[in-house]
Amino acid sequence: DLPERVRIHEVGARDGLQNEKSTVPTEVKAEFIHRLADAGLTTIEATSFVHPKWVPQLADAEDLFPKLGGLREVALPVLVPNRRGLDRALVLGARRVAVFASATESFAKANLNRTLDESLAVFDPVVRHAKDAGVHVRGYVSMCFGDPWEGPVPLHQVVRVCTALRDMGCDELSLGDTIGVATPGHVLELLALLNEEGVPTNMLGVHFHDTYGQALANTYAALEHGVTTIDASAGGLGGCPFAKSATGNLATEDLVWMLQGLGIETGVDLGRLTATSVWMAEQLGRPSPSRTVRALSHK
Ligand code: HMG
Ligand code: MG
Repeated sequence: DLPERVRIHEVGARDGLQNEKSTVPTEVKAEFIHRLADAGLTTIEATSFVHPKWVPQLADAEDLFPKLGGLREVALPVLVPNRRGLDRALVLGARRVAVFASATESFAKANLNRTLDESLAVFDPVVRHAKDAGVHVRGYVSMCFGDPWEGPVPLHQVVRVCTALRDMGCDELSLGDTIGVATPGHVLELLALLNEEGVPTNMLGVHFHDTYGQALANTYAALEHGVTTIDASAGGLGGCPFAKSATGNLATEDLVWMLQGLGIETGVDLGRLTATSVWMAEQLGRPSPSRTVRALSHK
């Protein structure tokens, strides 16, 4: 059975903008997030408190986050790679953070400059401290299906990292198909194995990139399995600067179009959302890759 309602975890302002060649002005980012909230999105990943040299596009996190103070009804998670990042986020009053692990050694090294076990050792006190502060913690697991350096990723590697993050106390996990190589059968296999290993579906979200055009098919498989948290990026913005073959995330508009057709509630106003992505595409100087944005804006 398909769920009645889905929570969209919007990542355009973080996963999308972290990958832009140009740096988007802080005022534009703030307006983007306000417009996403006006379109009905209730979870909007705002930025990352990472090293500014690693991700210069998000170096304005301290300036941006306080500009979102008026969005009281909206959850505004931020990425934190370590204790330094968590402290920066907590000082500004962040109530939701995300740590980000990898299912592979290669990406742990490329993304965090650590081995996989070293990165988990860094996250452990971060998660504990965040939970003590009453903050909601998401744990991302990247490269759950394939890795640009290592190829196909064995399921047991993904399970090991997911159970480690669960045991640390993460409230939810997001299964990342960072380079967009997953197919629906693979998604179902991973979800079933995670359930067997004691990771319940209600703590799982899915995070698909659309490199091979499979993101919606993979999402449908996850919905049939009972997943109700779906990551998506307005206008299909995005990629990952540390994984060459990654393209944009599943576009939020494409997701909402499918969910509307299935009668699944999201609370999102598709017209407003599309207008926001058209506006953002103008700011970035190139059209949105989302098929739904193109179809609805050329009517
Ligand atoms: P490092 O160079 O190993 O850092 O980078 P370090 O721990 O050796 O510290 C070096 C210096 O950085 C020190 O300063 C630290 O204080 C400072 P110094 O003493 O030399 O003056 N530093 C910081 N400064 C500000 N904020 C911080 C911070 N931490 C240390 N948080 C580090 C290690 C983790 C910092 C670095 O690798 C990093 O920032 N990585 C971030 C990478 C990133 O943001 N990737 C994209 C997000 S993941 C993703 O997109 C995938 C996802 O979408 C899911 C999917 O699709 O799979 C989530
Ligand atoms: Mg991503």
